[in-house]
Amino acid sequence: MRVEIRKMQLGDISYVYEEELKIFGKSLGKKTLYNEIMFNVMAKYFIALVDDERAGYVGSWLTLPNAEILNLFVSKKYRGNGIGRKLMDKVIGICRTYNIENLTLEVRTSNKYATDLYNELGFVKGTIRKKYYENGEDALLMVLNLGVK
Ligand SMILES: CC(C)(COP(=O)(O)OP(=O)(O)OC[C@H]1O[C@@H](n2cnc3c(N)ncnc32)[C@H](O)[C@@H]1OP(=O)(O)O)[C@@H](O)C(=O)NCCC(=O)NCCS
Repeated sequence: MRVEIRKMQLGDISYVYEEELKIFGKSLGKKTLYNEIMFNVMAKYFIALVDDERAGYVGSWLTLPNAEILNLFVSKKYRGNGIGRKLMDKVIGICRTYNIENLTLEVRTSNKYATDLYNELGFVKGTIRKKYYENGEDALLMVLNLGVK
């Protein structure tokens, strides 16, 4: 399996939009994704390709000196192959080049696959945001300290 991570392009918008709806039941929306790619210099969005087929996505904002993961997914048929980790590694690598201090994200407390992945990458648990999601579920804030003083 040949996995490549590259910058998100305008031609990827429909893929991200449709997968977000399928996986999360909501999406940033095509217009927002377009504006992010075209105009937001803080936005760093990446697509994973497996043998040239789109397989996943990560969106992040570099709000110096910190950064945040906006969203991450791997298309269902490609999960469990290390692609989520590769997408996260890409963002973490970029954060290091920008001397980012902390990379944060929010994750559903019930999302074991995601929290396992973030734990393995060195994220630590931060505060709980009570009833953060529409269904009343709590969000766990997780932080990766990149060690810049
Ligand atoms: C979370 C998600 C992005 C992980 O992507 P992935 O490519 O499947 O993950 P990886 O193959 O890189 O696995 C990384 C770690 O995640 C966990 N994991 C992922 N899939 C798993 C599975 N099927 N069974 C058990 N653990 C799993 C493991 O801890 C794994 O580490 P390991 O390989 O050392 O055991 C993916 O499951 C997904 O898209 N989920 C739905 C959307 C979502 O929840 N996004 C996160 C929002 S915060």
